[in-house]
Amino acid sequence: MGISLMALAACAPAEQTKLMYGDQPMEDVIAQMTLDQKANMVLGTARGMMFPPDAAPGMPKRVTANIDDLIKEATERAAKGDTMTISTFMGTGRVPGDAAEGYAIEELGIPSIAYADGPAGLRINPTREGDENTYYCTAFPTGTILAASWDPETVEKVTKAMGNEVLEYGVDVLLAPALNIHRNPLCGRNFEYYSEDPILAGKIAAAYVKGIQSNGVGTSIKHYAVNSQETMRNGIDAVVSERAIREIYLKGFEIAVKEGKPWTVMSSYNKINGVLASENKWLLTDVLRGEWGFDGIVMTDWWAEEDGARQQAAGNDLLMPGTQHQYDEIVNGIKNGSLAEADLDRNIANILNLIQKTPTYKGYKYSNKPDLKAHAQLVRENGSCGTVLLENKDNVLPLAANAKVAVFGNASYDTFVGGTGSGNVNRAYKVNIYEGLKNAGFTLVEELEKAYTSFIDAAKSKMVAESFWITPSVADMNLPISQIKAAIAKADVAIYTISRQAGEGADRKLEKGDYYLTDVEATNLKNISEAAHAAGKKLVVLLNMGSIIELTEQVPLVDGLVHVFMPGQEAGNSIADVLSGKVNPSGKLPMTWAKAYKDYSSAVDFPLSPGEDRVVKYTEDIFVGYRHFDKNKVEPLYPFGYGKSYTTFEYANLNVKANGDTYTVTVEVKNTGKVAGREVVQLYVSAPKGNLEKPVKELKAFGKSALIKPGEKAVVTMTFKKADLASYDEAKKQWVVDPGTYTLNAAASAADLRLNTTIKL
Ligand code: BGC
Repeated sequence: MGISLMALAACAPAEQTKLMYGDQPMEDVIAQMTLDQKANMVLGTARGMMFPPDAAPGMPKRVTANIDDLIKEATERAAKGDTMTISTFMGTGRVPGDAAEGYAIEELGIPSIAYADGPAGLRINPTREGDENTYYCTAFPTGTILAASWDPETVEKVTKAMGNEVLEYGVDVLLAPALNIHRNPLCGRNFEYYSEDPILAGKIAAAYVKGIQSNGVGTSIKHYAVNSQETMRNGIDAVVSERAIREIYLKGFEIAVKEGKPWTVMSSYNKINGVLASENKWLLTDVLRGEWGFDGIVMTDWWAEEDGARQQAAGNDLLMPGTQHQYDEIVNGIKNGSLAEADLDRNIANILNLIQKTPTYKGYKYSNKPDLKAHAQLVRENGSCGTVLLENKDNVLPLAANAKVAVFGNASYDTFVGGTGSGNVNRAYKVNIYEGLKNAGFTLVEELEKAYTSFIDAAKSKMVAESFWITPSVADMNLPISQIKAAIAKADVAIYTISRQAGEGADRKLEKGDYYLTDVEATNLKNISEAAHAAGKKLVVLLNMGSIIELTEQVPLVDGLVHVFMPGQEAGNSIADVLSGKVNPSGKLPMTWAKAYKDYSSAVDFPLSPGEDRVVKYTEDIFVGYRHFDKNKVEPLYPFGYGKSYTTFEYANLNVKANGDTYTVTVEVKNTGKVAGREVVQLYVSAPKGNLEKPVKELKAFGKSALIKPGEKAVVTMTFKKADLASYDEAKKQWVVDPGTYTLNAAASAADLRLNTTIKL
């Protein structure tokens, strides 16, 4: 390093010698920057971004709108058949289709680095003008199915491959994982988030970060914090107690920061108790850095362009993708003294530290050719990692090897493999369920394929093409009973797939066709069930969606019920692996599945509190998900942590050992059935009475067994620390572990506690 500086000094006049980035102490490099350079360093390069060149006359020439307006604009234009997508707004630099690129100062040797979405795989443009090559990325399993695996090891393996695509396509930071709490099943982005429980979300996110970052590229854990809905996401005020913020909404981020060590954090759009997350010093500096020791950068979510100077002062290092008014606010803030130059310099130093870690800075020669074939194979093998078997009456599953199957439901022929918005991935292909079943060797009723594909094709020809915001969703085909009976006559078993799409920019609707079945779906399901049973055959229903729907009335009509989520581009093959028994399902629900929507504690305050404008009161406080169902003794349709297997497990010998402040819990799991399988064991802890109201029980750790052969045993080990047992006492402004007896339950789900023991503190 010293050599380059000497060489530079030798050939340049002394007054022009620059202290180069990487060679010199960061403060010295920053000290040479002009105010213009400094303000630019903390903004993405989309400042001045134009609407696309073909923008209709009268369109604004610069984007100053917030993201919600952009979404509206893009959606309206797409609905009119305009090919513009939001990605046209996005990066047009070195990696077309990325979300933004950083500012470069060449004279100081500071390169521009690339930031791109997203949680289910890298999102960049698949084609480039004047270039014959393609730049497809692998569509990996989405958030909920990763969480439903309860298997950090698998998540790390999958994201290691995902991160390789980030590296090989020249991107430096992946804008993922997304780990906001499933406060309510209608949040539009639940498919890319993980769970109602912060421990599960945090552990999965930490594994995700480790997998991606093992490639030498960064992650951005998002959206920090209390971002539980899409409705009015820009500026909705989430009114929440500090206890609920810390125990529920921050806990997962804390785990991800401490265990995963992400390079970056993305602040959310919303307000928390009146203060925008992106301008919130308590959140971004005091807690994140001060309490948790985070040493990377914080960036805003896209176009969260409130006040650039306030964001900087709060510890939001990088404002994305950077707008003119943020630039003006920073420059004016420094000039008028409302923004301390030391704060700006601190943020620049954080960004410079980040850049030094990146492949771009290190001069990595990316190939633009990741091994997409190998990654597709990995997706196929892990697309079933979190499949949840909900019902399996009379062991209808797995299907017999040579079964003849009547396959119903649009989504069997047009399967949703991922969600929309920034979580969408430009993949080369997808495998539908029908195709996967065919590949697995089942004999399928071909008349149904013809009927469905021509119905779907005809409907789609009148719809806009799949794009960033939109996956055309065709309402389920209305099947005459005669056609159902004829198909079932040719088959041994019926499969009916029900799907839902969701994504960024809007919440799901409490309506037929979204949270509720349409009349056609309900009728089809009933008719297929009756026809199958009248003919002495069975019905298996597959749920292809990122979240859940109301199904209480339908459960008695099905024999098998499988939540396949959105398993990535090999969906059909991954799902067929479970239906054929090649893979024994071992996923468990990362959310509580209520009998009725009103049973969720947030139902009264979602997406707005009654009579409020832009305010949502989290009146349920810490009682989210199973914490509420337990407390109020509400019986769910399926409890948190629930999932069946093709085999059965017995738990024995629950043991707990303390070593200082660390507790190691072991439980022996025996496979008492006929096929090999894996079991997720959950450790729920009930705390003694103290000054604060405590949940009946809380998940504190979990473990997943290795594959256990019939008749054999495995030991599942789970650990937690004494500090993990604490509740946040707002009056004392501290975490408190009450003395007394704690009951530890080894459980198969939140409603199936198998063994317990106690510890005294
Ligand atoms: C989303 C983020 C995403 C960003 C960049 C925003 O609209 O909320 O999750 O990373 O755009 O595409």
